[in-house]
Amino acid sequence: MTSDLEAFWMPFTANRQFKAEPRLLARARGMHYWTPEGRQILDGVAGLWCVNAGHGRREISEAVARQLEVMDYAPPFQMGHPPGFELARALVKIAPADLDHVFFVNSGSEAVDTALKIALAWHRLRGEASRTRLIGRERGYHGVGFGGISVGGIVTNRRMWSATLIPGVDHLRHTHDLSRNAFTRGLPEHGAELADELERLVALHDASTIAAVIVEPVAGSTGVLLPPRGYLERLRAICDRHGILLIFDEVITGFGRTGSAFAAQEFGVLPDLITCAKGLTNGCVPMGAVLVRKRIFDAFMQGPPGAIELFHGYTYSAHPTACAAGLAALSIYEREGLFARAKSMAKLWEDAVHGLRGAPHVIDTRNYGLIAGIELEPVAGSPGARAFGVFQKCFERGLLVRQTGDIIALSPPLIIEPTHIEQIFSTLASVLRAA
Ligand SMILES: Cc1ncc(COP(=O)(O)O)c(C=O)c1O
Repeated sequence: MTSDLEAFWMPFTANRQFKAEPRLLARARGMHYWTPEGRQILDGVAGLWCVNAGHGRREISEAVARQLEVMDYAPPFQMGHPPGFELARALVKIAPADLDHVFFVNSGSEAVDTALKIALAWHRLRGEASRTRLIGRERGYHGVGFGGISVGGIVTNRRMWSATLIPGVDHLRHTHDLSRNAFTRGLPEHGAELADELERLVALHDASTIAAVIVEPVAGSTGVLLPPRGYLERLRAICDRHGILLIFDEVITGFGRTGSAFAAQEFGVLPDLITCAKGLTNGCVPMGAVLVRKRIFDAFMQGPPGAIELFHGYTYSAHPTACAAGLAALSIYEREGLFARAKSMAKLWEDAVHGLRGAPHVIDTRNYGLIAGIELEPVAGSPGARAFGVFQKCFERGLLVRQTGDIIALSPPLIIEPTHIEQIFSTLASVLRAA
């Protein structure tokens, strides 16, 4: 067995441990996976925050197959094809007002690096070339490109490459504060003032050197860190005051997870750029996108009409197959009202999440929309071990969860039914009791 698995260098995986005790998934449908032996696994994380309409959606596989028959590939540079324009229009339709142009990429990481490049180029085009500084946030995850790990705030993703991270990046403090906000239902009460950190960085570096701030409205990868009430509004106001662009990285919050199409709409804060991926194609075909506000796009549409306005793009930007999958996914989201469904299930979800309060080792439960974080007390001297054990035991008992540090993150497909919610939390409760 081990030798069969050897050649694949698995991403963000403890390769040796995995290959000694593999956890394989072979089939998926609706809310479930099946292992090669046929064991059913309830999907508590929508794959990896991406299969928002559930697995095995025939509309998507048929659209992809059709597209491959009609036209498998078309070059995206100086050429176009109908599904690319159609998907851009469909995305703009559900995006926050004014974010009305779309640049297609292949992943969340590429979306982030693209957004950062657009932000830098925009300032330069407007004659503010000194604005080169990018501001991220501690515990932020923005993928694994050099831009993304530079603005990201996860030390393990940065330290190997510390000397080659992009220069001139600074970070806001993260907003996670269990001393004031533990066991909050919905958005935390305390911490809006942490947005004022940006004023401190402006005072330190001067606004004339700062291009953009990038944050996840809800930080997912470091364990579901919700924005304190008023925090994002305050960040927006400070950006406006100083001419700084605000980028929301909505790679996990996009496509309904909070109960709205985008978290920007859910929280009522309008960023200048949005990065998205994952749910864009229901996880079926790799694809990401950057949504930009009109004034940003317009600034690029200057100069001779024959000139290329942005020297950036990918061979697979707006890949026809990905566009077909995206169009089919967006049409399922709309037809089945899945974003509203996430909202309507949120209260039941919240009650179930907070039902784990008091379970052994649980030091926080938190939730928003169809997202939850369950934070566990670390085993002394072995950070992450407790939650990894829970993740393994859950898998043995037929439930897929996500472990990050000592936090269990949950983000099920938006088609989830009450019986699935009951199964997720009863499994977690019994695993925690046995831990
Ligand atoms: C907020 C955020 N940004 C970017 C990414 C990177 O996306 P990808 O893995 O598709 O490159 C992720 C992935 O989880 C993410 O959660």
